[in-house]
Amino acid sequence: MAYETILVEKDGPVAVLTINRPDKLNALNQTVLAELLGALSEAACDDGVGAIVLTGAGAKAFVAGADIGAMAKMTTAEGRAFADLGHGLGDAIANCPKPVIAAVNGFALGGGTELAIACDVIYAAEHAKFGQPEVKLGVIPGFGGTQRLARLVGLQKAKELVFTGDTIDAAEALRIGLACAVFPAAALLDKAKDLARRMAAAGPLAVGQAKRAMNHGYDLTLSSALELEKQAFAMLFGTADQKEGMSAFLEKRKPAFQGK
Ligand code: COA
Repeated sequence: MAYETILVEKDGPVAVLTINRPDKLNALNQTVLAELLGALSEAACDDGVGAIVLTGAGAKAFVAGADIGAMAKMTTAEGRAFADLGHGLGDAIANCPKPVIAAVNGFALGGGTELAIACDVIYAAEHAKFGQPEVKLGVIPGFGGTQRLARLVGLQKAKELVFTGDTIDAAEALRIGLACAVFPAAALLDKAKDLARRMAAAGPLAVGQAKRAMNHGYDLTLSSALELEKQAFAMLFGTADQKEGMSAFLEKRKPAFQGK
């Protein structure tokens, strides 16, 4: 499908989704959110896609936030609907059975940080900047930031960022565990695609189940989470991919996974 604000490129088993609104630093309005959700579910349903990279168009921004122009005159009901849309996208990324990697190529502010932290891995360019500046606008993070940021960097660090609205650079994001790795801008997309390719080469059902156990298990009690892991582990023994993966190892050849 063609989108107005999202570019979709397939490079082998990797789908690259680019938010393409560089004149507004890729700010998230309703169209971008809905189109990104559409492009993500298309990639999730495409058997030829093993992993997804999410990035922003232009050299300056990943996403400079939710669109302040679109939000400025919203009523309470409209604000709730906007938050529902943003949360829907974050949940779709977190629940996508394929890995989603954020390649943060510049500003990731507000909804930009929230979009990145809904992804499985964040790779950042050296000039990337992260932050949750919403309190400076009289609101709070509304696309999952008050919850997902604390789970990633700890409650205290998340409060420091959310209550001040301060922006941090890529080196600090790496230090606190918000970014997984930092690269020169020119290398960022290739590094993200390379990571995506390595994930796509693994058993897709296994990667999907690992993501599910790790994301859903995080909010359960330890015993429930461990049970979830055991169920997923056992279920995978009923798949052709498990037979193929282990046979290939024993036969000293590369596995040919089918996602079955
Ligand atoms: N919503 C809507 N438009 C945005 C935007 C946002 N979150 N962030 C940037 N833009 C627009 C600007 O209004 C400007 O549009 P214009 O050329 O039509 O005036 C364009 O993007 C370029 O931004 P500009 O502010 O001129 O770039 P800059 O280099 O001077 O500053 C930022 C970059 C990121 C520091 C600055 O744009 C900014 O603070 N943005 C808002 C960040 C924010 O608060 N996000 C959270 C929202 S909840």
